[in-house]
Amino acid sequence: EAGALWGGRFSSGPSPELQALSKSTQFDWQLWPYDIAGSRAHATALTSAGYLTDVELGQMLEALDRLAASIEAGAFSAAESDEDVHSALERGLIIEAGAELGGKLRAGRSRNDQIATLIRLYLLDHSRLIAHLVVQLIDAIASQASAHPDAPMPGRTHLQHAQPVLLSHHLLAHAWPLVRDLERLRDWTSRASASPYGAGALAGSSLGLDPALVARELGLAGGPMPNSIDATASRDVVAEFAFIESLIGINLSRFAEEIIVWATREFGFVKLHDGYSTGSSIMPQKKNPDIAELARGKSGRLIGNLMGLLATLKGLPLAYNRDLQEDKEPVFDSTTQLEVLLPAFTGMVASLTFNTERLAELAPQGFSLATDVAEWLVKQGVAFRDAHEISGDLVRFCEEHGLELHEPTDEQLLSVSPLLTPDVRTVVTVTGSIASRDGIGGTAGVRVDDQLASLTQQVRLL
Ligand code: ARG
Repeated sequence: EAGALWGGRFSSGPSPELQALSKSTQFDWQLWPYDIAGSRAHATALTSAGYLTDVELGQMLEALDRLAASIEAGAFSAAESDEDVHSALERGLIIEAGAELGGKLRAGRSRNDQIATLIRLYLLDHSRLIAHLVVQLIDAIASQASAHPDAPMPGRTHLQHAQPVLLSHHLLAHAWPLVRDLERLRDWTSRASASPYGAGALAGSSLGLDPALVARELGLAGGPMPNSIDATASRDVVAEFAFIESLIGINLSRFAEEIIVWATREFGFVKLHDGYSTGSSIMPQKKNPDIAELARGKSGRLIGNLMGLLATLKGLPLAYNRDLQEDKEPVFDSTTQLEVLLPAFTGMVASLTFNTERLAELAPQGFSLATDVAEWLVKQGVAFRDAHEISGDLVRFCEEHGLELHEPTDEQLLSVSPLLTPDVRTVVTVTGSIASRDGIGGTAGVRVDDQLASLTQQVRLL
């Protein structure tokens, strides 16, 4: 078989059915720039070990440059008969460098250590882009938070009114998980930056090549991996990346679900910008939160990609098995999806208009200040157990009389409990309640200011 990387011991070429099954260029072709970078580094290692002369190295690097230029110009691409990106590029190299010189490059390396290295290089590049896009989303959330420094809203647990909180506090609660995702990407980078190149097929190379040189050339700061079997057989770094991508997706999806609910007529908390919402083909009045829904939908897809990948890895014996070719499509897909989702999501968040009047009106409803009454009683020396009962009695009284917590008269308050003196009114306000929660991490305005400052600082350092 002309151009194949193997064939010597075979009496026939591959059947068309095998070729159709085996071919991976439809998804691994995008790794070509990394494959060429690996080839350049490998040629340098071959030279320093004495297998290529300096003149040959110069010719090899020039041939690789010409091949890259020819790919970029659209003149060279993977052919039907190429099994994978590596096979296609060796065919291209032989066109550029001739069979004699081109045929020397494969010494001491295997597609097994190549592919394990290339996927790291690909993921490292994309991790930088994804981190940048996540920072932009965090910035958009932080801007919305600082644009609404003292707007209250009903805070919820179980989706029921719980306690009033600042809108800015609530929004920042969506930013912090993303900050941790950035930290995860950074931590992952240290593990991803190790270099499998030099591991060969599984056992290492007998040619005295220097894998540290290759790692340096490729910018893989972790240096060569200590075990060639592990280097070629493990994909935990890929799975971990797919996990971080899934988590980013899930964090977007949680926010998306709120935006979808907030944009309903019943809630009416936010208006979506026309540029970040869609219409209906039949209902002229519709304005739909499609970006948020796609975030919610795509997060399921990211989880599926991660699960598929984990299932592929489970039960694989050492070392390389062809199953490992199945690692790429899921993680490539998660990456592509996130890279298209994040900018749209950021635009949607940045352009949300909050109905702060409605949020303020709803904040005290549903007896959301009952905890404040109980905590006020505690400050008067009442045991919390009793304070909780008394506040609960007041809620029941108000519910029976169709009142909100701040509405009973002094007599009515005293009729519920002699401990409920008119002074309690000082805490039965949304602003009083919010300002009183001034411990670290609380919703008081001063704390939210601190929080915003430390968030900005942390993101800058990442
Ligand atoms: N295309 C393979 C992959 O993606 C790499 C080639 C290794 N093939 C082999 N027969 N050892 O994992």
